[in-house]
Amino acid sequence: MSDRNQTQESPEKKAAGIYAASLVKSGDKVGLGTGSTVAYTIKELGRRIREEKLNVVGVVTSYQSEAIAIEAGVPLTTLAQMPELTIAIDGADQFDKNLMAIKGGGAAHTREKIVSMSAKRFVVVSDPKKKADVLSVPVPVEVMPFGKELAVRQLKELGGKLVLRAAAKKDGPVITDNGNFVIDCDFGEIQNPKELAARISQIPGVVEHGLFMNVDEVVIGKSDGSIEIL
Ligand code: 5RP
Repeated sequence: MSDRNQTQESPEKKAAGIYAASLVKSGDKVGLGTGSTVAYTIKELGRRIREEKLNVVGVVTSYQSEAIAIEAGVPLTTLAQMPELTIAIDGADQFDKNLMAIKGGGAAHTREKIVSMSAKRFVVVSDPKKKADVLSVPVPVEVMPFGKELAVRQLKELGGKLVLRAAAKKDGPVITDNGNFVIDCDFGEIQNPKELAARISQIPGVVEHGLFMNVDEVVIGKSDGSIEIL
């Protein structure tokens, strides 16, 4: 997993991430997203497991989150063993008041979509800067390397300005945990995310896009440690 997520301490992300961990109850099967905000959730779950004897099991969405969960002491399982999850918690790159979100800043959106759609409840954790009236950040699209040229042509026909995501500190493209490329597609202001999502999904070789329409609630952390729920 390679990403464009920031790693500095953020009181807003911390407030959201830690609050979301309080939504988890003993017996829950928890989808664990990827990124710096949900990292706070995973660490807090580890603390609750140790100190409160919380009995939970997690399914991770990336090697990055797997490492954080193991370090935190969160027991892990797979969707093959636990196909239905109680709750999934994850970050986002942008969201709007209709609970539409763009994810994939960590190049993990394919697994994040599978895990979040396997859960009864999908909670996004965020800082306030990611709230937008209209979604407008680039949409990450995971494509099979074999299909890159066709995908590029068809994504441009949909009006996207495209950047093949480069790996941090390395020459060459990001390779996802699934062995694919990520193309960041700037569509400007996205007036109809559902229609755009359907069109991108039709392109052969597209594995998954970062438009999420299955968010149940967004926990927004504030710098004073309080939270707002959307
Ligand atoms: C990874 C994601 C992340 O959840 C998203 O990029 C937000 O990350 P962060 O919490 O570090 O701001 O979608 O694919």
